[in-house]
Amino acid sequence: MHNILVINSSVSGNDSVSRLLVADVVAAVTRLNPGVRVTERDLGAKPVPHLTADNVEGVRGSPATDEEHQSRKLSDQLLGELRAADTIIFGAPMYNFGLPTGLRAWFDYVLRAGETFSYSEAGPKGLLVGRRAIVVESRGGFYSDGPSSAIDFQEPYILHLLGFMGITDVTFIRAEKIGFGPEAREEAIAGAREEIVRLARRVAALAA
Ligand SMILES: Cc1cc2nc3c(=O)[nH]c(=O)nc-3n(C[C@H](O)[C@H](O)[C@H](O)COP(=O)(O)O)c2cc1C
Repeated sequence: MHNILVINSSVSGNDSVSRLLVADVVAAVTRLNPGVRVTERDLGAKPVPHLTADNVEGVRGSPATDEEHQSRKLSDQLLGELRAADTIIFGAPMYNFGLPTGLRAWFDYVLRAGETFSYSEAGPKGLLVGRRAIVVESRGGFYSDGPSSAIDFQEPYILHLLGFMGITDVTFIRAEKIGFGPEAREEAIAGAREEIVRLARRVAALAA
């Protein structure tokens, strides 16, 4: 059984381009391979709580208080979803040149020493090897080329965080210029959909 974890993080509900495209990826993969199992986590509609002085020890240390036990429980649950996944599909809009805070907070819960990474004399080692990630990025502007590529703190950051956990097989699908008017938006969605068709065939073949 091939397990897919779908993580959306747009706060724009049904107007979200990344949600639309993530749904396309899932539909295309499951159409080609009905045997895959899909688990969903919606960080836009139901964000995980930010870490605070009251709960951080539950994730970064040893839980003692009720709040710390709650954050440990949630961290274990999110880690369980991640570990069970062969393929993780992220919907990741660009917010303020980086990630939505919902997705950022999720990383705070799953980047745990001894669980998803470890340190040795040789340096950090990612522990979640053997998984692949597909990241749908929606952006108001254009960052793939030209001077604005220097202020893309979204894609390199996601790539680094996933790689830090050992997930190095990462494919990005970009829908850019979403803020440039309806025509540009449609063009971006159509372009991303073409990529999704090609990608879904590869994922379905792996899942077979
Ligand atoms: C809070 C917020 C911050 C944003 N910041 C940026 C930005 O820094 N650069 C950019 O190109 N677009 C930015 N946008 C536009 C979104 O990237 C664009 O609307 C994208 O389609 C959002 O993804 P979604 O449609 O899946 O919600 C921002 C949108 C929001 C809501």
